[in-house]
Amino acid sequence: MNLCVLGAQWGDEGKGKIVDLLTPHFSVVARYQGGHNAGHTVYTGGRKMVLHLIPSGILHPGVTCLIGNGVVVDPRALFSEVDDLVPLGVDITGRLLVSDRAHLILPYHRELDVLAEARRGERKIGTTPRGIGPAYEDKIGRRGVRVGDLADLSPQGPLANAVRENVAARNRLVGDSVMRWQQVVEELAEHWIRLRPLVVDSSLYLANAIREGRRVMFEGAQGTLLDIDHGTYPFVTSSNATAGGAATGLGIGPKAIGTVLGVAKAYTTRVGEGPLPTELTDERGERLRESGQEYGASTGRPRRCGWFDAVAVRYAVRVNGLDALAITKLDVLDDLDTLEICTAYRCAGQTLTEMPGDTTQFAACTPVYETLSGWGRPTRGITQFADLPAEARQYIRRLEDVSGAPAAIISTGSDRDHTILRDDSIVRRAAVALGQ
Ligand code: IMP
Repeated sequence: MNLCVLGAQWGDEGKGKIVDLLTPHFSVVARYQGGHNAGHTVYTGGRKMVLHLIPSGILHPGVTCLIGNGVVVDPRALFSEVDDLVPLGVDITGRLLVSDRAHLILPYHRELDVLAEARRGERKIGTTPRGIGPAYEDKIGRRGVRVGDLADLSPQGPLANAVRENVAARNRLVGDSVMRWQQVVEELAEHWIRLRPLVVDSSLYLANAIREGRRVMFEGAQGTLLDIDHGTYPFVTSSNATAGGAATGLGIGPKAIGTVLGVAKAYTTRVGEGPLPTELTDERGERLRESGQEYGASTGRPRRCGWFDAVAVRYAVRVNGLDALAITKLDVLDDLDTLEICTAYRCAGQTLTEMPGDTTQFAACTPVYETLSGWGRPTRGITQFADLPAEARQYIRRLEDVSGAPAAIISTGSDRDHTILRDDSIVRRAAVALGQ
């Protein structure tokens, strides 16, 4: 029984902790999209570790981590992360695999990302800016360079030709400096020495693993509302963060995905630009940011904070076919007297109960709130649903009702142990997936 864990909001939902918690029950953890724009924070041996590209499963001995064809790989970022794992005693030998079909982020992609943002001016996306978008542009434009292409570094080979053409295009765009394509190829040749032993056909690897009865967890990055097709376009990332991305981003059939678990914060956050109907721009938003330590794991940017948007999460339940939710950071709400849940939007005199596809319309939406009582006492570290204050239980039940999916897991703190595994049917299903 395989499991896909993904973000049900705008990213940063706390997937790192949930993936880390569930990993011991899986043999393989596979990333299917995004790049080092992601930031999964995990705590190990009392130390905080932020992983950007490598699945956090790497911290669990015996677990194989696979970076799928749908991911864009910056070799510099990859090996800097591998090197950071060494002092933690993490040995990646034979445990970290990279798809031969994954596209590479090259130095000019990072530059083009910055340039594109500057050109957009006030309409900027607020990218991370790690070259993610331009690398995917080259992939879709059929001029990208894939990991497997590094096997032929000859000056007239397909890789050198692609880099030469792409660097020439970059030099035409960037007026005040000239990049040498030979230097890019030389750097790639150095990375290839370390990359070569990690390269696999991810589809074949997973097909064999699944046939052998090994359990696979598919790890999404970013979140549903940042998905290139289903998110708040154009304020999105450049890949499919939704469950379907697991099939295309790894080369597996959709039926292999199994259970789909959406991770959602007990409130809402977003980094970067784009509409966020429940955003709190007053001191209440500031309070959420401080108590939730809402600063980007990759860029350190302050996250925009607001109330739980059940319309957005209900949408995530639909487009991902979520079986269940993991609700994180409940404890951040402990001090609030009252809480709001957005159950619909008001837009141009109409009440909308579904996410509009038009981002301009979405940006004009104001939330319709339902007010619930706060609980006014700490929930941090609580591990049993019955031990939560009555108001907190009521809050969770209401989130489930309006989102349309059961909360199988509730996180009450950053530690692995600060977790409630609910005793209901979906948990039993998830428990089967988790080998419990
Ligand atoms: P890009 O993925 O760097 O191109 O950025 C596109 C948008 O996605 C921006 O709004 C980023 O802030 C957002 N984004 C990218 N990665 C993450 C993430 O891991 N968490 C939250 N937001 C992200």
